[in-house]
Amino acid sequence: MPEYNVPQISQDVYWVGVRDWNRRMFDALIPLPQGTTYNAYLVKGSKKTTLIDTVNPGFERELAGKVNQVADLADVDYLVMNHAEPDHAGAIPHVLNVSKAATLVTTEKGAKMAQEYYGVPEERMRTVADGDTIELGGKTLKFIEAPWLHWPETMFTYLIESKVLFPCDFLGSHTAAGFYDDEVEELIPFAKRYYGEIMMPFSKMGAKALDKIDDLNIELIAPSHGPIHRNPGRILEAYRKWTAGETEEKVIVVYVTMWNSTEAMIKTMVETLLGEGIEVALYNLINADLGDIAKDLVDSRAIVLGTPTVLGGMHPQAIYAAHLVKALRPPLKYGVVLSSYGWGGGALRQAGEILGPTKIEVVGALEVNGPPSDDDYEQIVEIARQLSAKITQ
Ligand SMILES: Cc1cc2nc3c(=O)[nH]c(=O)nc-3n(C[C@H](O)[C@H](O)[C@H](O)COP(=O)(O)O)c2cc1C
Ligand SMILES: [Fe+2]
Ligand SMILES: [Fe+2]
Repeated sequence: MPEYNVPQISQDVYWVGVRDWNRRMFDALIPLPQGTTYNAYLVKGSKKTTLIDTVNPGFERELAGKVNQVADLADVDYLVMNHAEPDHAGAIPHVLNVSKAATLVTTEKGAKMAQEYYGVPEERMRTVADGDTIELGGKTLKFIEAPWLHWPETMFTYLIESKVLFPCDFLGSHTAAGFYDDEVEELIPFAKRYYGEIMMPFSKMGAKALDKIDDLNIELIAPSHGPIHRNPGRILEAYRKWTAGETEEKVIVVYVTMWNSTEAMIKTMVETLLGEGIEVALYNLINADLGDIAKDLVDSRAIVLGTPTVLGGMHPQAIYAAHLVKALRPPLKYGVVLSSYGWGGGALRQAGEILGPTKIEVVGALEVNGPPSDDDYEQIVEIARQLSAKITQ
């Protein structure tokens, strides 16, 4: 009985990654409700053996154990680094130490990072550019530069004869569940969440990368997180839509309230939008999961932000949310800000300062003193109707 499960995903191509079932936070920012995986792959040609990406620091032994079950880690010839972030490149020093003759294969920018982050000496690296290939004996690796997904050095590797694409973070999902795409019940929601968190700020680069791989014959997409896509069309089609910024008749509502005045305004807004047939995704920032917000930002056409005034500006939770909305660069077209204040206000002004430079068109902004009055409610209903007209026009 072997110690590890090392599935063969294609002839002489093995998954040697690890499952991090218990991880609950990524980049000290993104919640991981189902953990994640760090997928690494071993490709055995008749002459050369290649390891594609590695794993998060702390899993070196497991990676080595898995590789050793189907080959000998000491005999690896090439170590491909598609991306320099430590969740995939963190075990490079360990691998290069065991595989004394292995050469690290990466982009020019990747080489600089491998030196800086992992102390890889120049003589152990080979830099590749777009379209370069490496022969393994009956198998050919082709490198596709795909920068800024989501770091400057990123590339994809394509195994020509086997028709397998290794796009690293691109097309991935954070979940430790399942192995193939069709084994994961919520594959698209998880992939969408991941896209929103990691790739959405780089949607243009994502669209470019999709164009670049458009004429490749792809049977399997083997990303660095989550399930392997043996139905590649499904994820590619979703990414086409997301990178193009296609939105739904949908509003994401994010708010925070201390004494429920803002919440009362938000409720009226939401009821009216729902009555107009608009889809609503609502999050109270106090208990919202950032990944869920990122997921719904991917295809919402509008945002409603609700915040009381606190110390002359927005509530700190709303500042955080507004900053994230700006940084993630979602395809939002319209926005509304609703706020309650006690004496001097200030939240609306600050919302304008943060979101002003974005492309979001402000359809309404209302600041009320204390709990909303009947007049205020009427105004909110009016704003909601205007918003829904914009959304459905
Ligand atoms: C900690 C704290 C700080 C506040 N700072 C301000 C302020 O600087 N200016 C202002 O007009 N109101 C301020 N307020 C009053 C709130 O904005 C006001 O009570 C508002 O109606 C609260 O809305 P909510 O019920 O949605 O929490 C503050 C309230 C709290 C609790
Ligand atoms: Fe990454
Ligand atoms: Fe990653």
